[in-house]
Amino acid sequence: MKPARRVTIAGGSITPFIGKFHPDFIWKKHPDFGRKENPTLEQLLHRVALGACADVDIEPALIDRGYVGNFVGELFSNQGHLGAMTAAASDGFLHTPFTRVEGACASGGLGIAAGVDAIQAGADLVLVVGAEVQTTHNAKVGADFLARASHYEKERGIDEFTFPAMFARRTMAYCQRHGVTPDQLAPIVVKAYANANRNPNAHMRAVTMTESQAAGSSDSNPCFLANQELNPWLRLSDCSQVSDGACAVILCSDDGLEKLGQGADRAVQISACSVACGPLGAVADYTQMDVTAAAASRCYSATGWDATDIQIAEVHDCFSITEALICEALGFCQEGEGMKIAADGVTSLEGSLPINSGGGLMAFGHPVGATGVKQIFEIYRQMNGLCGDYQVATAPERGLCANMGGDDRTSVVTLLERK
Ligand code: CAA
Repeated sequence: MKPARRVTIAGGSITPFIGKFHPDFIWKKHPDFGRKENPTLEQLLHRVALGACADVDIEPALIDRGYVGNFVGELFSNQGHLGAMTAAASDGFLHTPFTRVEGACASGGLGIAAGVDAIQAGADLVLVVGAEVQTTHNAKVGADFLARASHYEKERGIDEFTFPAMFARRTMAYCQRHGVTPDQLAPIVVKAYANANRNPNAHMRAVTMTESQAAGSSDSNPCFLANQELNPWLRLSDCSQVSDGACAVILCSDDGLEKLGQGADRAVQISACSVACGPLGAVADYTQMDVTAAAASRCYSATGWDATDIQIAEVHDCFSITEALICEALGFCQEGEGMKIAADGVTSLEGSLPINSGGGLMAFGHPVGATGVKQIFEIYRQMNGLCGDYQVATAPERGLCANMGGDDRTSVVTLLERK
C-alpha cells in the first residue's frame, strides 16, 4: 500500500541485542552472575517506548496510538497483554490505545504496517515497539516455543530444532536445483559477522567469523540437526541468534511532525508498506519465497520503483539461505544468484547494495518481535548518517526492509525514502 496520508519516521530507540556470547549477557560464567539480571520483557518495552519519545522530544501523552510487536511473551516470560504493559511505562500513556500485534517473526513489521494504517485513519503520532526475551529457557525448549510459528501439528516433528530444519530443507532444495553447495553460503555469514563487529548494539559484536570457519562443519561449527536427511545442509553458523532486545520508532503524519520537539529534520518517509500471507504448513516451492515476492511486488507497483532503485536493504536472514532466497524474491538478483551477490561483495558495506549493514539476524541478533522494527530503524539511521563504524559511505536515499514470519508465511515489505 502506498500511504495516501504521508507517513514519516522521525526517530526511535533501540537496546543492545544480547544473548549467549555477548559480553553483557548474564549467564552462569559471567562475573556478575548472581549480582545482576538480564533485562526483563517489561524493562525492554519501557526502555524503548520512553527512549523513542525522548529521541523526538515529545511527552508520551502526545502519542495517539501504540503498537507492540511480540511473538511469544506468554511462553518465554509468562506474560501476555503487552499493550497495557507498554502503556505502564509512563503516566502520560494513561488511556492511550496500545495494541499488541503478532505474526511470528514478522510481528515487528506488522506493528509498522498497523502504524501506517493508523495514520491513514487519522492518527498523527504513533509509537511502534517491538520486543522479545528468548533467553529464559535453553535452546531446545526455545526451539519448541519458536516452532509455534510453523504449523505445529504438521511440522513440529521435522526436528527438535524445527526452524533450523525447515531452512535446511530449503538449502537442500536450493542447492539441488541450482547446482551449488552449502559452503557457498559462507560469504553471507562472514559479512553478517563482519558488520556486527562494527556495531556496538550487535549480539555477536565480539565474535569473529572467517570464511573457512563458516564454510566447513567442524566440532565448533557442527551440523547439529538430528534429522539425518537435513543434517548436512545446515551448520551452527548458518543460524540466527537467540537474542533478547527491543526497538521502537515514532511514526508521524505531517501534522504530527509539527508537534515534535526535535527530529523533524531527520524524517524518513515510508513510501509503501505491504503485508502478504501464504497458507501455514504449505510451502509450494522451497526454492522460492513467493509470499515475500508478492509483498515486494505490491510495493514496487504502488511506488513505480523497482529493485534497481534500492540503495540499501534490511532483509530477514533468519538463516544464511534465507538471505540468498529473499534477495532473489526482492529482485536484487536472478534466481540462483543469491549466494553470488554476497560472494562478489555487492551486498557488503562497501558494495553497491549493502544488505544487513548492522549484522542482520545472524549477528546483530534476532529478538523475534523486535526484528521488523529494528530493520526500519536501521535504514532510518543509515539515511541520517547515524551508524558510526558501520555507516555506509554515502547516506542512501532509498531503502527497503523485508521482515518475514514462519517459513515465508507472513511477510512485510516496506520502502523508505529520505527526501
Ligand atoms: N557441538 C554439537 N552440537 C552443538 C554444538 C556443538 N558445538 N553447539 C550447539 N549444538 C547443538 C546441540 O544439539 C545442542 O544440544 P546439547 O547441548 O543437548 O548437545 C544444541 O545445539 C543447543 O546447544 P546450545 O544450547 O549450546 O546452543 P546455542 O545456545 O549456542 O544455540 C542454536 C545454537 C541452536 C543454533 C540457536 O542459536 C538457534 O536455535 N538458532 C536459531 C533460532 C531460530 O530458529 N530463530 C527463529 C528463526 S525462523 C524465523 O525468523 C521465522 C519465524 O517466524 C520463526
